[in-house]
Amino acid sequence: MERLQKVIAEAGIASRRKAEEMIKEGRVSINGKINREMGQKVSSKDVVMVDGVPIYKEEKEYFLFFKPKGVITSTSDEKGRRTVLDFFEGERSRLFPVGRLDWDTTGLLILTNDGDFANKMAHPSHEVEKEYTAKLDGVVTPEALKPLGWGVKIDGKKTKPARFDIINVDPVKKKSVVSLVITEGRNHQVKKMFEAVGFPVEKLKRERVGVLTLKGLRHGEYRPLSKKEVSQLLQGNTPKTR
Ligand code: URA
Repeated sequence: MERLQKVIAEAGIASRRKAEEMIKEGRVSINGKINREMGQKVSSKDVVMVDGVPIYKEEKEYFLFFKPKGVITSTSDEKGRRTVLDFFEGERSRLFPVGRLDWDTTGLLILTNDGDFANKMAHPSHEVEKEYTAKLDGVVTPEALKPLGWGVKIDGKKTKPARFDIINVDPVKKKSVVSLVITEGRNHQVKKMFEAVGFPVEKLKRERVGVLTLKGLRHGEYRPLSKKEVSQLLQGNTPKTR
């Protein structure tokens, strides 16, 4: 048995607050009878209607998407730019992205219709690892990047300790490629962290979130997550890769 406003919200019709308003306005019926009572509980056998239309519980869905460059992580855009949802037109549920990647960042993005899952993943206490590969302007050294490991100040607040690995340095072109593993998801965090140690990011890709990688996917492709992957993400379960 679940509370009526929760059932309406989970059907993807309205937020819980809006659902409460709908109930007060007498727009919701249970088994053919208008119900204005707030705490009312219903089971899957009850027929709930909003404005005379029966509602169905939307199944929870989770997808792993390989975001291409030049796409915004949003459900809509007033300027008409391409959004990540344009790639999910064949899906029926009302999906939204979990966290965000910048317009020019490529890589791993999770989309779901499960608000509780998204909130848990975004909570600062939920330290799922996110691994990025960044192409940097300049020739890095382990010494110069060391502060990333301790935490650097961005927007007035210190970042949590991160791990980095220098993948390639080109002393002629004066460019470097560095892998960075962080457990937070602050705004433009990776770009700001490298900026803080003196190396502007030229290209950024998210390679991994927790146990998930982009293996088998090309730019613009997606696949559903398995139940096991979803529960591993919720546990904050991350392989210790290095
Ligand atoms: N950090 C950034 O700076 N940009 C992203 O897109 C993701 C993490």
